[in-house]
Amino acid sequence: MIQTKIFGHRGSMGTMPENTLLGFYQACEWGVDGIELDVQLTKDGELVVIHDEKIDRTTDGTGYVKDYTLQELKQFSAGVKFSNLALFDKHVWSKERIPTLEEVLEMITPYQIELNLELKTDMFPYYGIEEKVLAIVHQFDYADKVIYSSFHLPTILKLKKFEPSARIAWLVVYELSRPSEYIQSLALEGLHLHKDLLLNKENYGLSADDFKIRAWTVNDPKEMEQLVNMNNIDTIMTDFPKEALFLRNAH
Ligand code: G3P
Ligand code: CA
Repeated sequence: MIQTKIFGHRGSMGTMPENTLLGFYQACEWGVDGIELDVQLTKDGELVVIHDEKIDRTTDGTGYVKDYTLQELKQFSAGVKFSNLALFDKHVWSKERIPTLEEVLEMITPYQIELNLELKTDMFPYYGIEEKVLAIVHQFDYADKVIYSSFHLPTILKLKKFEPSARIAWLVVYELSRPSEYIQSLALEGLHLHKDLLLNKENYGLSADDFKIRAWTVNDPKEMEQLVNMNNIDTIMTDFPKEALFLRNAH
């Protein structure tokens, strides 16, 4: 029987500003097994951690990430927009900036947690993003702790060509007719499945012996419980890692 791991989705986006050092730090301090984050490329080819292609929703700026240099992006607050969250502290959160991947790795390295690094290549191809991501991960000697994922299958396949030992996982929102065949033929380390694909089926016809099943994004305690009880779910990604850890540890 495996103990289900808890990954903080975009850090702890249910309680802290998403994809910020503040959120990642808080998740680490709570004792998460890993964090999930999203990477995009700036105009000057820097890797930044932000979910949307545009900065409008999560910062006080407007426009596309790809149209700004890193220095330009750093002028915007990545925390001030989250006044809806109970812990909102305008003075502290307004100082948060969009972090680089390098800054996040520097922050999490002492914790040695797992890192699910999602490459956001669904809208823009971000030429060269795979090599850049690998280079930074190696700079921090973190390769064995990283799982690379993407909705865009060619991205993770390309990354694996560059680094055959890389753990790659495909993000899936719809039913796959023969999931095991994809896993074997594409040499996937795992599938990252939308939670409903797992909750609505007994076990998706998969056993977890030779690959990992990770479920996202699970915020309802009842659903967390259900997935923990399935025994073949490696990881639950959640916006509320503190609550999920409490529930999992009480199991
Ligand atoms: O990696 C799981 C999840 O983060 C994928 O969806 O839209 O939150 O990046 P999204
Ligand atoms: Ca993501």
